[in-house]
Amino acid sequence: MNVGVLGGGTMGLGIAQVSAQNGHKTILVDINKEVLDKSKTKLEKIMARLVEKGKILQDESIAIQSNIVYSTNIQDFKDCGIVIEAIIEDFSIKSEVFSKLESIVSKDCILASNTSSLSIASIGSSLKISNRIIGIHFFNPVPLMALVEIIPSIQTSDLILKNVKSLIDGWGKVAVVCKDTPGFIVNRVARPFYGEAIRIYEEGIADFATIDWAMTELGGFRMGPFTLMDYIGNDVNYTVTETVFSAFYFDPRYKPSFTQKRYKEAGFFGRKSGKGFFDYNDETLNVPPNKNRELGEQIFERILVMLINEAIDALFLNIASKEAIDLAMTKGVNYPKGLLMWADELGLDNVLSKLESMFNEYGEDRYRPSPLLKRMVKSGTKFFR
Ligand code: NAI
Repeated sequence: MNVGVLGGGTMGLGIAQVSAQNGHKTILVDINKEVLDKSKTKLEKIMARLVEKGKILQDESIAIQSNIVYSTNIQDFKDCGIVIEAIIEDFSIKSEVFSKLESIVSKDCILASNTSSLSIASIGSSLKISNRIIGIHFFNPVPLMALVEIIPSIQTSDLILKNVKSLIDGWGKVAVVCKDTPGFIVNRVARPFYGEAIRIYEEGIADFATIDWAMTELGGFRMGPFTLMDYIGNDVNYTVTETVFSAFYFDPRYKPSFTQKRYKEAGFFGRKSGKGFFDYNDETLNVPPNKNRELGEQIFERILVMLINEAIDALFLNIASKEAIDLAMTKGVNYPKGLLMWADELGLDNVLSKLESMFNEYGEDRYRPSPLLKRMVKSGTKFFR
């Protein structure tokens, strides 16, 4: 099957690489010829490195690269069995592009979007045959990140879902199916990793370095929340938080913070601008963490129970299966453990009592425990045996 990828930027090139590595003739289309030239050179370098490291043979590298056709002409998708869109995150542009795509491809061609924040149902509404729309949400960098969230919308046919799932499984990815709701699994469940960390800082409980130390050293996370926000970019991360917040009809659980807003407004984006929560131009300016274990445990526990509550609520609302939710967080954002498994280990009664004590102390809806957690504590059940 020929695979079409629309948008030759960061995500599009990664998707095209994976498709080509799996033997598909892959058509990569971008409106910008310069982007395509840059992407081609980037892939050449990636392939050369893989050959150098002995991960692939020279012949394979040549075959993979010759599987990709770079084009600025969307008409080149006409023989594709699937087209995966990875262009700019703008609803009206995506809508227009999908209508155009439909006039080019065959009626059986699957049309997929890699959108991170738009609803698949809304993108599908621009199609005449709308049961072929589906979300295929990859993670960056695509060739390295195992997780792929597959999002059928209310229009998507069961057959399309089945075919897409087997295609992505065949590419050696970990595919999880989830509901067409804001943030899908990962970008929803991970919100407290940032939000609660910032809240702890805002209350003056600890500084950025100490919170990061608690989450990495005591929690086993690969990166602390502030280092991660600086890495993602405070501009990007703040915008995602704002989008998720409004998409959830302003549920206080997803409320953005003034702290990050100010960092964004000041241009303190993080690594890419040289300064964010930490200074990257002059690292000597960064204050070392306070390695007080008791304080660290408190910070880690507070963020962890908020993450667990979010994961439980996603299960409560049938966003995905319990296995999918745990896989999504371990394979999509490299959490050291699945959150539901972690909840079992901590004891659901302990998680509930911590949440209840915060809910009582602050009187804020963001700390409300998920009804499923309450039910499970009452019945004495666990997520996994
Ligand atoms: P990017 O900015 O690197 O690439 C987008 C490309 O689309 C650009 O090269 C641009 O020239 C091209 N483009 C824009 N309009 C076009 C059109 N009408 N026809 C053809 N090409 C067009 O963006 P990136 O980061 O690759 O994101 C693409 C999509 O993937 C977005 O929907 C984004 O939300 C989503 N996504 C991004 C992730 C990330 O970490 N960057 C992760 C998961 C999803």
